[in-house]
Amino acid sequence: MSRAPFRLVPLDAAHDRTAFNSDSEPLNRYLREQVTQDIRRRVAVCFVALADGQHIAGYYTLASASLLLVDLPASTGKKLPRYPTVPAIRMGRLAVDQAFKGQGLGGALLADALDRAASSEIAAFALMVDAKDKAAAAFYRHHGFIVLPDSPLTLFLPLATVQPS
Ligand SMILES: CC(C)(COP(=O)(O)OP(=O)(O)OC[C@H]1O[C@@H](n2cnc3c(N)ncnc32)[C@H](O)[C@@H]1OP(=O)(O)O)[C@@H](O)C(=O)NCCC(=O)NCCS
Repeated sequence: MSRAPFRLVPLDAAHDRTAFNSDSEPLNRYLREQVTQDIRRRVAVCFVALADGQHIAGYYTLASASLLLVDLPASTGKKLPRYPTVPAIRMGRLAVDQAFKGQGLGGALLADALDRAASSEIAAFALMVDAKDKAAAAFYRHHGFIVLPDSPLTLFLPLATVQPS
């Protein structure tokens, strides 16, 4: 999706996290102060887009999750087994540095996350996201995500609809 020459790799200690500056200060702070601890504790993994050298242009995190069957739209739920929950992968955070916005990088990071989730050897029904606000929810809807009927900021995309690369 991205036309810029970004490299998408797992975050490592050599990457410069201090200069990252998206529109969301909580997401900047998370990258600076918390993500390495979450990785160490195995509650998230983080992938970054490197613009040049070790400069981070965007990032996202993934972790395992579950969706309550009763929270899904009825049309989706009726095609699933009658367990209380279905397995999912949560993209907990996604952000693009202001300098790289509008160049397709957010879409490319999302596509990379979907590809990883759909290619996993561990089953997951969907990639889910908790959008931080209405604009973020609109970004995910634009990419085909479906809103949970009773929580408009939680969206999911069934991974069976994703073509692994
Ligand atoms: C949301 C965000 C990740 C988008 O990144 P980006 O690199 O600017 O987005 P892209 O250039 O890849 O846009 C891809 C497509 O999404 C569309 N899009 C971007 N933001 C959108 C929005 N808020 N609503 C609807 N569509 C949107 C673009 O028009 C583009 O459409 P196209 O592929 O049909 O041309 C970025 O603006 C950001 O980091 N925002 C602050 C943090 C945030 O809101 N994170 C969201 C997760 S909570």
